[in-house]
Amino acid sequence: MLEIKNLRSGYGAINVLWDVNLDFREGELTAIVGPNGAGKSTLLKTVMGLITPGQGEIVLRNEPLSGRRTWDMAELGVSLIPEGRLMFRDMSVEENLTLGAFPKNRRASLARNLERAYALFPKLKERRRQMAGSLSGGEAQMVAMARGLMAEPRILLIDEPSLGLAPVIVQEIFGILRTLKQQGVTIVLVEQNTHMALGVADRVYMMRSGRVVLDKPADQIDIGKLHELYFALEA
Ligand SMILES: Nc1ncnc2c1ncn2[C@@H]1O[C@H](COP(=O)(O)OP(=O)(O)OP(=O)(O)O)[C@@H](O)[C@H]1O
Ligand SMILES: [Mg+2]
Repeated sequence: MLEIKNLRSGYGAINVLWDVNLDFREGELTAIVGPNGAGKSTLLKTVMGLITPGQGEIVLRNEPLSGRRTWDMAELGVSLIPEGRLMFRDMSVEENLTLGAFPKNRRASLARNLERAYALFPKLKERRRQMAGSLSGGEAQMVAMARGLMAEPRILLIDEPSLGLAPVIVQEIFGILRTLKQQGVTIVLVEQNTHMALGVADRVYMMRSGRVVLDKPADQIDIGKLHELYFALEA
């Protein structure tokens, strides 16, 4: 559904991703794990068109995506839930969610999508008038997820949703990822919590220092070996 071919990308003169190949299949949940600084967020930002790649191709449903802008991605059905949950702190929960419905072809279904978001995250309905800046970390992550869903994505890219959250909230968030997958959403999950990621993933990639160092179906992965590779010293 979404293929990354020989991708090189980075920031100005600094290259971060080196000849990265990844294949996100329709209806699957693909996990990307790897230590800090591996280039996971850089990869997602490049897919969203926030960074222009130096080399390689990003192909969505057999169509190369080149020259498209970030806001086009939502209309193409690709949504990013960014690391750090970026949101407008001085706007209410509901105003933040409404901003997620910006693609032209989604505006008409705003009310339906708000109801859908509140059904998935009942706590947010109670807090719909609260300023986003006063939410707890777990609630903020829920707003970020719900906002990403307001665009009715076919592919959801989600960057470290569990970061800094209590285990019970992490469980809740992973439960929602499972529900979305059952609803047919293709999911790319960047996650440092390898246990949780393995529990939901169909396929796992590991990145280190801007390269893919492991590419396997989740059920063929030995978590001990995964951790050895994860924590191995740089060659
Ligand atoms: N805006 C930027 N300008 C320059 N270099 C950057 C920028 N953002 C990230 N980098 C560098 O790119 C490399 C990869 O960073 P990236 O954020 O993609 O890693 P990551 O795998 O998402 O790490 P983490 O798990 O800590 O989120 C790092 O060396 C980082 O310092
Ligand atoms: Mg990151």
